[in-house]
Amino acid sequence: MPASKKTNRILACDNADLDTAFLLSMLEADGYSNVTWINDARQVIPWLQREAFDLLVLDIDMPFINGVELTRLIREQFSEASLPILVITASADKEARNLALFHGANDYLNKPVDSVETSLRVRNLLTIRDIYKRQQNTELELEHKVKIRTDKLDMLIKNGIMMASEHDRTKLLNQILLESQKLLHCDGATLYLVTDDKTLRFAQRTRDDQLPMAEIPLFHADTGQPDERFVSTYVALHNTPVLIDNVALETRFDLSGTRQFDEQTGYKTISLLTVPLASVTGEVVGVLQFMNALDAATGQVIAFAPGMLHLVQALAAQAVVALDNLQLMEAQEQLMDNLFQMIATAIDAKSPYTGRHCSRVPELALMLAQVAHDDQTLFADFRFETADEWREFKMGAWLHDCGKVTTPEYVIDKATKLETINNRIHEIRTRFEVLLRDAEINRLLAPQAGQTADQANAQYAARAAQLQDDFAFLATCNTGTKPLTAPDLARLAQLAGTTWLRHFDDQLGLSVAETERRIGEPVVQLPVLEPLLADKPRHLFERDTSHHIDPRYGFKMEVPEKLYNHGELYNLSVIRGTLTLEERFKINEHMISTVMMLENMRFPKSLRRVPEYASTHHETLTGTGYPRRLTSADLSIPSRIMAIADIFEALTAPDRPYKKPNTVSEAIKVLFELKQARQIDADLFDLFLSSGLHIAYAHCFLKPEQIDEVDIAAYLGPVTP
Ligand SMILES: [Fe+2]
Ligand SMILES: [Fe+2]
Repeated sequence: MPASKKTNRILACDNADLDTAFLLSMLEADGYSNVTWINDARQVIPWLQREAFDLLVLDIDMPFINGVELTRLIREQFSEASLPILVITASADKEARNLALFHGANDYLNKPVDSVETSLRVRNLLTIRDIYKRQQNTELELEHKVKIRTDKLDMLIKNGIMMASEHDRTKLLNQILLESQKLLHCDGATLYLVTDDKTLRFAQRTRDDQLPMAEIPLFHADTGQPDERFVSTYVALHNTPVLIDNVALETRFDLSGTRQFDEQTGYKTISLLTVPLASVTGEVVGVLQFMNALDAATGQVIAFAPGMLHLVQALAAQAVVALDNLQLMEAQEQLMDNLFQMIATAIDAKSPYTGRHCSRVPELALMLAQVAHDDQTLFADFRFETADEWREFKMGAWLHDCGKVTTPEYVIDKATKLETINNRIHEIRTRFEVLLRDAEINRLLAPQAGQTADQANAQYAARAAQLQDDFAFLATCNTGTKPLTAPDLARLAQLAGTTWLRHFDDQLGLSVAETERRIGEPVVQLPVLEPLLADKPRHLFERDTSHHIDPRYGFKMEVPEKLYNHGELYNLSVIRGTLTLEERFKINEHMISTVMMLENMRFPKSLRRVPEYASTHHETLTGTGYPRRLTSADLSIPSRIMAIADIFEALTAPDRPYKKPNTVSEAIKVLFELKQARQIDADLFDLFLSSGLHIAYAHCFLKPEQIDEVDIAAYLGPVTP
C-alpha cells in the first residue's frame, strides 16, 4: 500500500551521493515528498534562516564543517523543539555520535542506514515536531484571543472614563453607540430611549440615514397590556438581551419594521443583537440595538458571538451610569436655573414699578454680549468660550437685582413724597379741611365779637382762598414732578408753622411699635395746637447698629444716620423726586444685599463669576458708583454690559404704572450723557448703537410708539472733553 502523502519539510545534508540517494528514496517511499537535499554543509544555516523546515538530517562526516560542529552552531539559533536534528554516523564512530547528541542532535542513524529504522526514527521526530507546532499554534491562538479580549477591556475602561467626563447629552449618546459598535465589530447601531409616555424613541443611529420620528409604544393603547411583538419593546419590557442570528429566519418577533427599512434603503439586515440599558435598580432607560456583526478577517456579515454579550452588557451598564449622572447634573442645573429665574420673577412680581425689569435685563444683556462676542475689532479679545460661561453670565444677569427682595415695596414704589404704606396727603388735606371749618366757625362767631357780617365774610373768603392755594401748592410739592426752589422750601416751612387744634387723643388706636416710638413724648392737655406739617421724634426710625457689615465686602457707601425719617415737612422738602436721603440709600442698599446674598453662596466652579456679574451694574468707570466705588480697572466687559442693559431697560420699560416710558431716542440721549460722563463704557455704547441692537431690542420688548428715529452718528465716537 503506498504511504500517504506528508507535508513536512525535510532538509538533508550529505556529501555522499549514494547515501543521500538511498535516504531520499526511503523518505519518498514513506510519503515525504517535500525534501530538500544539499551537499555543502556551509549552506545549511543560510537555508534554515531562509526557510522553515520540520526536520534536519545531517551526515557527521562532511568537508568544510562536520555534522557535530554544524549541530552546535545550529542549536545556537534553533531550539530542539523547533528543529529536530537527525545525525547519520558511521557505526564505529561512537564518540562523534555522542558529541553530536551532546550538542543537540535529537537522534542518530548508523551507516549503513536501515530503511525500517530510518522510517521509524524520522516519523518519531516529526511527530514530536508536529506536537510542538500544534502547541505553538494553540499558544498563538490563545495569545491572539487574550489580546482581543484585553483590547476590548481596555476599550471598555477607556470608554467608561470618556463617558464619565462627557457633559453633552448628544455627544454622550453618540459615544455610547459608536463605542459599542466598535466593541462588537458590527455594521450599525441604534439607540432608543424610553420616554415618559412609556414609548421607545429613536435617539441616535450610527448610520447616516434619518431617524424615524415615530415612537414605539411599550404598551397596547387599548388594553394597557405590554406590547412584546417587537424585539426592542421585548428587550425593554423584560430587561433582557436578545440575539437574532438571521433576521430572515426569525419567527419570535415582528421584524417588519427592519425589513421595511431594508427595502427602503437597500440595506440588508442579517444579524441583530438587542440589549437593554438598565439602571442598578432595574429601571430600563433605553435599548441598544446592533446590526450585522462583521467577521474581522473577511468583513462578511456573521451572527453576533454570544460570548460578546457580557462585554456589551458591561458597556451598557457604564452607559446607564453616565446617562444617570448626566441626567442628575442636568436636573441640578435646571433646578438652579429655575430657582434663579424664580427669584427674578418674584422681584418683578413684588412691585409693579419695576415691571419685568429682572426678566428683560438678562435678555438685553445677552443680546449685547453676543454682539460684543461676535465683534472682531474693539472686542476681539472678549469671548465666552463655553456654554458654561454663557450660562454663568445669564445667571448673573438673572440675579442682578436679587437684593431687592429686602427692599420695602413702599420705598421701591414711592410715587409721592408723603407716601409710606399710603399717601399721607389725605391726612394733611383733612387738616386743611379742619382749618377751613375753623375759618367758617370764626366767620359765624364774628358778629358776637362785634364784627360786621361783611367783614366776617371777607375774612373768611380770603382765608378759604389762601387755604385752597396752600393745599394746591403742598399737593404739587408732594408729587415731586418738578424740583423745589428755595422759595418753595421757605413757603413749605412757613406753612408747616400753621397750627390746628387737636381735640382727640393721638395715643389711641396705635400699634405696639407706634406706641413704643412715642415713649418720652410729653403728655399734653387737650385740646392742643398742632403744626400743619409735623416733623416729630416719632417720625424718626433708628438704624439697627448691632449688626455691623463685615469690612471684607469692601462697601463704600455713605450710610445715613437714621433708617427712615417720615417727617411730613422733611419729606415734602425733598428737592428732586420723591425719595428722602434715607430712602435713596435703602434703594441702593439692594446692591449690598445682592453682594452679601451671592458672595455667601457656594457656587459651582462654572458659576463662580455670577456674584461679579450680578453686583456691578451700578458701578461707574470713574469710581462714583455703588456699592464699592469700583473703577474702570475693576470692571470686566460683562460687568459693563450689565450696566448698559440695566439702565436702558429701566429707561424704556413700557410697563411701569403712572410713568410714561421714554422713547428709544430719549433713552439713548440719557445713555449718551452717561457715556460723556464716563459712567458707562463708551465702546460698548457705540457697539450697542452701531450694531442696531437698540432697535432690535425695541422691536422685541417695547411698544411701537416708543420706537423712533435715532441719529446714531451724533452719539458715536470718542468721549468729548
Ligand atoms: Fe440694581
Ligand atoms: Fe436692575
